[in-house]
Amino acid sequence: MDRIALIEAIAQGPVSGEALAQRFGVSRAMVWKDVEALRSEGLKISSKNGYTLEESAGFGEATLSWRCGRPVTFLSETTSTNAVARQRARQGDHGAVVVADHQTAGRGRRGRTWESQPGDNLLFSVVLTPDVPPQHAPRCVLIWAAAMAEVLGVRLKWPNDLVDDNGGKLGGILAELEAEGESVRFVILGVGLNINQERFDGLPQATSLRRLRGAPQDRAALLAALLSAIEGADVRGGSLDGWRRVSHTLGRRVRINGIEGIAQEVRDDGALIVDGQAVLAGDVELVAT
Ligand code: BTN
Repeated sequence: MDRIALIEAIAQGPVSGEALAQRFGVSRAMVWKDVEALRSEGLKISSKNGYTLEESAGFGEATLSWRCGRPVTFLSETTSTNAVARQRARQGDHGAVVVADHQTAGRGRRGRTWESQPGDNLLFSVVLTPDVPPQHAPRCVLIWAAAMAEVLGVRLKWPNDLVDDNGGKLGGILAELEAEGESVRFVILGVGLNINQERFDGLPQATSLRRLRGAPQDRAALLAALLSAIEGADVRGGSLDGWRRVSHTLGRRVRINGIEGIAQEVRDDGALIVDGQAVLAGDVELVAT
């Protein structure tokens, strides 16, 4: 049974089990079984006087696909969503979205690991196929990151760490590129975002959206908003002005790769200009002035 269509039908309810059984051409027992499966994703479905959707907060494959308006693969546990998305991409599933509640081998930038408390946060990867040459990929990632930061109302530490106004880290992006000659085959955009986690033992710089906003956040709604921001971003024609607007780095004194000075500009190819020198990769450290 198409569980996304089932949620949609219940959302427009109240609707009886019998009407649903008829509409989907299945038995009432089958409807009941699938409603139970939706409840186990966290959807609040009441069955008084027909099925009604009381609350759409939930986190599972059908709920996420419904909220995002596109197929989403949900894994309660996996190694790394980037690894799964890469397999999908190689099978030609461009546009695939893979979400996990827990990663056993979550990867961060520069060979680091990415840890996240199971069930609290957003860990997802999207397979994207920007029509740009491979050398433009870092710039695309900055544009996607800026679109996400804008949706969340947060800022970016170069190149694409999502941070609050004090530089507290809310999330990060691991983009992996596969190219063929002069064209991008696909980019895996892997996003790790601290949403509802409240404690970060041993990570004084880390924070979450819940801490920032002072209330629990609906992860599915955030995922839907982030995906549409990513897809809506103009990576071919767009400028880096969006990135500049949300930057937490430009104009500050920083240290990176042994260079210390004011972060003056972000160049068209995504390089950070510090004290007149272009930096293509590295970790920005703020220097107190
Ligand atoms: C960083 O180092 O700041 C980037 C972290 C990116 C983590 C995300 S979580 C989802 C996706 N899967 C991974 O293994 N990594 C990215």
